[in-house]
Amino acid sequence: MKVLIIGGGGREHAIATQFRQSTHVSELFCAPGNAGIAKIATCVPIKATEITDLVQFAKNESMDLVFVAPDDPLALGLVDALESAGIRAFGPSKAAARLEASKSFAKDLMQRYHIPTAEYAVFDAVEPAIAHLNSCELPIVIKADGLALGKGVIIAQTLSEAVATVRDMLESNVFGQAGSRVVIESFLTGPELTVLAFTDGQTVVPMVSSRDHKRAYDHDQGPNTGGMGTIAPGAQLDEATQQLMMETIFQPTIDAMAREGSPFKGVIYFGLMLTPQGPKVIEYNARFGDPEAQVVLPLLETDFVVICNAVIEQNLKSLSIKWSKRAACCVVMASGGYPGPYQTGYPISGLELVKASTVFHAGTRFENDQIVSAGGRVLGVTAIADTLDAAINQAYQDVGKINFKDAHYRHDIGHS
Ligand code: AMP
Ligand code: GLY
Repeated sequence: MKVLIIGGGGREHAIATQFRQSTHVSELFCAPGNAGIAKIATCVPIKATEITDLVQFAKNESMDLVFVAPDDPLALGLVDALESAGIRAFGPSKAAARLEASKSFAKDLMQRYHIPTAEYAVFDAVEPAIAHLNSCELPIVIKADGLALGKGVIIAQTLSEAVATVRDMLESNVFGQAGSRVVIESFLTGPELTVLAFTDGQTVVPMVSSRDHKRAYDHDQGPNTGGMGTIAPGAQLDEATQQLMMETIFQPTIDAMAREGSPFKGVIYFGLMLTPQGPKVIEYNARFGDPEAQVVLPLLETDFVVICNAVIEQNLKSLSIKWSKRAACCVVMASGGYPGPYQTGYPISGLELVKASTVFHAGTRFENDQIVSAGGRVLGVTAIADTLDAAINQAYQDVGKINFKDAHYRHDIGHS
């Protein structure tokens, strides 16, 4: 079959690798892709948000499946547009993607269906938000309602910081439209864990868990990023905790979306905190996380196309999905300055020296026959081994072989 992947980061490179390994795929395309994806798929220069052009291309090329990986096209309704044009698409509808695209939608849903999460209130105007802050305990968490590249969450330690954040979002529009509504929620504590799951709208099948490292610098210092590295599994969960998560969070979320008339089909991302009161939802995403996908997918042992078909055909219940028992570590190599301003266009050397790890390309492109940096996150170096320690060591050995000007990475991925 002919498959088109939408997106062009490390996550999409990991997804493309899965499709390449499937016996069902004859031709693989990626829009827009990157220099690494270009080695295993035909890259098409259409941006992930150019909905009309993407649908036209998929139609012209008679794609058998389009896999929509990033949040923006999902929120813009690419899956709906493809389906209306008669093209099979993997991913949630625009209505279902609200679970990620609107934090207030997600919080209201959790409240209505008693899904454990932090206490919260939603505001569109400054004065009532500030009045509410006066009655809150510190620290307090303030979130822009919409998509903000993972940067729309501020943990305020003082009342004045909280008030300034609310003003920044609601008055000064620092996050644009995404910050025209804010969610103010109580501060939770505990280890964080990501659980991705396949769901066909009825059945939900968790993948191997993972753990992201969101801060830019070692020891969780510095600003939040899209993710500087990941490990999988993210925690050793006993049977009882897994069952508790399924019964109080995973299945109730999928059932709630179905009952609300927006069944969720695709990959759902549960961002969890293991609090002393049990697991609670920090956030939902409507897609694979990045770099979470770069450690989870390499551990998948079932044909990816078979899973995509089961999701689309609402047949997940009858499928048994197999996972490797090994461990994975991904270290992200970023451009100096990321998540702030950074330079691109620097030649990347040493890629051919890496043998034991897989190097997923995030922000790279070809320039004069050379691979150069082209984004904030540039590469994800993923190692698989029998133990997590061995995977961490291997990933760092291979990171050491790769060079580009001002490359920046964390040295403590996987050391909690
Ligand atoms: P989010 O984009 O919602 O995942 O938030 C980014 C990060 O902020 C999370 O990974 C947490 O580390 C932190 N965070 C978000 N909400 C809370 C909360 N209610 N309590 C404590 N930390 C939070
Ligand atoms: N790594 C977090 C995310 O993809 O949202």
